Amino acid sequence: MAEEKAALREHMSHIESRDLLGRQVTLGRLEDHDVVVAESGVGKVASAVTAALLAREFSCRGLVVSGVAGGLDPELHIGDTVIAHSLIQHDYGHLHDTALTPFRPGIPPLGEHRRDFSFELPAELALKLERLAQEIALPDLPGDLIAPRQGSADRRPAGLPRRVLMGRILSGDQFINSESVRRRLQQEFAAHAVEMEGAAVAQVGALLELPVVVVRCLSDLAGAESHLDFPRFVAAVAPGAALVLRRIIREI
Ligand code: ADE
Repeated sequence: MAEEKAALREHMSHIESRDLLGRQVTLGRLEDHDVVVAESGVGKVASAVTAALLAREFSCRGLVVSGVAGGLDPELHIGDTVIAHSLIQHDYGHLHDTALTPFRPGIPPLGEHRRDFSFELPAELALKLERLAQEIALPDLPGDLIAPRQGSADRRPAGLPRRVLMGRILSGDQFINSESVRRRLQQEFAAHAVEMEGAAVAQVGALLELPVVVVRCLSDLAGAESHLDFPRFVAAVAPGAALVLRRIIREI
């Protein structure tokens, strides 16, 4: 989204804009690296197309996704940030009467690999990111935003710093605004957060043999109030993901 792109663009230098099949892309330098930044579009198809276009057009060495997500792990609060060590498309698979059996996207659902439905970071990269996550401190969110809203499910204990952690992120073509769905997703996949693009970009990365790092700051908790929390927090939390991403680009 524009808020998520703006949080990165304001730290770039040598900026140049281009049009790529109707998408505005921004080339420039970020943390001493050449980068190209674009809004991915919402959902798995839009983000996969954007990722593949950028990777091929600009010979990218890696793909990164920065933005917001809904929290699933009950230990997490709005403003915490998850770096994905694994990414799953939670809406892809074999739908039975009662459940969905996930399969690996992009290959026929046959043979042993059909059940490798999680896109995993290489172990060495995951270890480096884990160390980095522990070093990053995020600034507090503005006081008027963290004051508990009546009926809100998010109760960050006073003085508890915002966390940056490695975790499992789910992606699907659905905005999750339901207590029962968030509970089911968290239990079935032991996941920390849910969004709509990361695992699709991971699928592109797997195809092109490029590393994919997804960083998501929680804008809501994907439950009954996520439709209220998302617009309230998106602009305030998107810079958190961008800050973490800049540290990753600088040091890795
Ligand atoms: N991105 C941010 N919040 C989300 C939610 N609740 N569901 C899916 N994607 C999201």
